[in-house]
Amino acid sequence: MQNEFVESRKSEFAELKSYIDSVKSSQGILMQTLQKAQDIFGYLPLEVQQFISKETNIPLADIYGVVTFYTQFTVEEKGKHKIGVCLGTACYVKGSQEIMDKLSEELNVKVGTTTEDRMFTLEATRCLGCCGLAPVMMIDDDVYGKMEPKRVHEILKKYRN
Ligand code: FES
Repeated sequence: MQNEFVESRKSEFAELKSYIDSVKSSQGILMQTLQKAQDIFGYLPLEVQQFISKETNIPLADIYGVVTFYTQFTVEEKGKHKIGVCLGTACYVKGSQEIMDKLSEELNVKVGTTTEDRMFTLEATRCLGCCGLAPVMMIDDDVYGKMEPKRVHEILKKYRN
C-alpha cells in the first residue's frame, strides 16, 4: 500500500526526482540534494530520505546521519510562521528568556516545537547581529527589537489573522 504522505505529495516527489536525475552523474551530490529536497518539502521526513536513498543509491543510514548532524536540516514539519528568540549574550542579559517564556505560554509549545495548528514554530537563535536592539525576536523576516513580554500577545495577533 502506498504511503499517504507519498500519495499526497506526488508533484513534489516528481520535482525532486527530476532534480536528482539532473545531478546524478556528479560527485558529492548528497548535501545539495538534501537542501533541494528541504526547499521543496519544507522538511525532510523519513519518506523523503528513503526516496533520495533509492534514487541516488546512497544508504539510508548515511543520509540520516547527515540530516541529523547538520542543523540546517530538519526532520519535523515547521509551522507557517517561524519565531526566533535570540538567546545570544546581549539579548539574554536584557531578558530574552522572559520573552521566550511568554511566547511558550501564549502558544502552548515548548522551544523547538510547532503549535498543533501548524501556525508557529518557536525556536531559540544565536546572535542575530543587531544587539543594539536587544532583546530581539524575529517572526519570519520581521525583526522586533527592545522586546517586552507584554508586547507578545499583540504581535502574535497580526500573524494569527
Ligand atoms: S545577542 Fe541578540 S542580537 Fe546579538
